[in-house]
Amino acid sequence: MTRRDPRPIGVFDSGVGGLTVLSELRSRLPAEATIYLGDNARTPYGPRTADEVRTFTTECVRWLLGEDVKLLVLACNTATAQALPQVRELSGVPVVGVVRPGAVAAAAATRSRHVGVIATAGTVASGAYPSAIAEADDRVLTVQQACPDLVPLVEAGELSGEPVRGALRGYLGELIGRDAQIDTILLGCTHYPLLRPLIEGIAGADIAVVDSAFTTALAVEDLLDALGTRAPDSPSGDERPLAAAHRIVTTGDVGAFSLVASRIFGASLPDIEAVSLPAL
Ligand code: DGL
Repeated sequence: MTRRDPRPIGVFDSGVGGLTVLSELRSRLPAEATIYLGDNARTPYGPRTADEVRTFTTECVRWLLGEDVKLLVLACNTATAQALPQVRELSGVPVVGVVRPGAVAAAAATRSRHVGVIATAGTVASGAYPSAIAEADDRVLTVQQACPDLVPLVEAGELSGEPVRGALRGYLGELIGRDAQIDTILLGCTHYPLLRPLIEGIAGADIAVVDSAFTTALAVEDLLDALGTRAPDSPSGDERPLAAAHRIVTTGDVGAFSLVASRIFGASLPDIEAVSLPAL
């Protein structure tokens, strides 16, 4: 008999970017309750030292574990690249990061075997993507481009204006200028899918753009099935589906967070809650 576990899935990001992963999780696994924590008070993580990222990430993860989550998703590439082993060490529940699912998707998508990765400075410096892509397919060459201006722009709700277009033209121009054989660009930061239409427009029709949100949701689904811990999808003896509960919590400003979050979730956005971590 399959065990069922109604506890929520915990999702963490430095800010609003992980909502792109949450959105895929919610559409792929509608019966699962979720609790999302964005550390907007300390975003961006990208320019921070690895030690700072580890400290902040473990503080946030401890908070989520205190909410009795059954599984954790590190929906932040920077945190995954720099803190995944520490998070696994302290968590009594399974932890899924976003780097491996993204790397697998990019290695599968490329035909030329030249992949461009755009990410934060911290993720680029960690080397997590070149090694995860080589692990997925060691014939693939990875070229990286740090894009330090993008997370602050997205956090400010700037998703389509000239500042973000100009920044993207510069970053993508540099990336493709270094390797004209790139046929796949991996969005190695969970904030970047919010800029996907602009990125696709600038990259052009010959370059595929992939992200880790969809493949991370698949990895979570596989893990829940392997563990037999999916949420009950209907009350026993009743065919009506249970409505899964969703909470979104931020360490930062609720109004600014809601503005970006409502563009992703529209009417299905729960009320955003503020939280103050002990270290803040
Ligand atoms: N969404 C985070 C990531 O995927 C952004 C990191 C940051 O805060 O700079 O890396």
